Amino acid sequence: MSWDFKALEVSAQTQIAQANSLPVLEAIRQKYLGRKGLIAQIYSSLAGSSAEEKPRIGKGANELKDLVTGLLQTKQTELRSQEKSEVKALDVSLPGVSFPLGRPHILTQTIDEICTIFERLGFVVEEGPEIENEFNNFTALNIPVDHPARDAFDTFYLDVPDPQNPGRYLLLRSHTSPGQIHVMKKYRPPLAVVIPGRVYRPDAVDASHCFMFHQIEGLLVDDNVKFSDLKGMLETFCRHLFGEKIRLRLRPHFFPFTEPSADVDISCYLCDGKGCSVCKKKGWLEVMGCGLVHPKVFEAVGYPKGKYTGLAFGMGVERLAMLKHGISDIRLFFENDLRFLKQF
Ligand code: PHE
Repeated sequence: MSWDFKALEVSAQTQIAQANSLPVLEAIRQKYLGRKGLIAQIYSSLAGSSAEEKPRIGKGANELKDLVTGLLQTKQTELRSQEKSEVKALDVSLPGVSFPLGRPHILTQTIDEICTIFERLGFVVEEGPEIENEFNNFTALNIPVDHPARDAFDTFYLDVPDPQNPGRYLLLRSHTSPGQIHVMKKYRPPLAVVIPGRVYRPDAVDASHCFMFHQIEGLLVDDNVKFSDLKGMLETFCRHLFGEKIRLRLRPHFFPFTEPSADVDISCYLCDGKGCSVCKKKGWLEVMGCGLVHPKVFEAVGYPKGKYTGLAFGMGVERLAMLKHGISDIRLFFENDLRFLKQF
């Protein structure tokens, strides 16, 4: 049999070049190099060939075999790497894959919102430590040691002695007001800061109490700060947070670190003061405590007597978030139930 090696080479080259998948390539390999493949057939035809033909056929078969083996090898490497990097055809009609989106916790959102309102009013955000000593948490705020006023700010004491005060212990701050002391020691007036952070009180946990919650403290110190400044500023703040139509009401109250002191109520944003389930039929919602900085506090931080006046206020973040969003149980904030958290 006479073999046209030139034609066989060309056809092998074309077939291998056109192979578009590994199975197709494997079929070509079988066709040429398999046990009953073309090259095996050529070798077995040698037996019946003339003596002059034999060397030509033998050489042709060897060369064809080398060529096909080499081409198959190269093509296989190419197809394998293609398969790995192959991007499946994009079907734009398929529904998109939605990725679960994280977001700030509702308390973080509330803190950010409140701080942003005060920043627009010219306040700066500061932070204070959660572990405090009695001086900052009480004494400097005009709450004397062993005075019953301390009961109002029931406190977790740590098993860590206060290095500056032998026999006394460090504690977890029971309000953000000690932040006032840090700020006044750090800066000289005029100053206006808000201090957000965690506070701790040994309260039994129920729908409206938790042993840890968040407060935002406000402090402004300057010359000639008046109670009307405090009221006007808080009114602006409350309108930003709860809506333009709310009214503000100050009720006389007592805090050792402010004089005079007041509790701040807003008219219920839901019923406009008529009485509903959010305001428990009262028409008013208590939103924070406030007052003018007590001279004793200025004294404690070493400010010259009579030189400065200031205003201070403190609000509970959980309480405000609950009022604003109609959340009925404080425990929801800390249970990390995504069904709750996803709503905000
Ligand atoms: N620290 C007070 C509290 O925890 C709130 C407050 C702050 C009141 C500043 C007046 C001025 O209840």
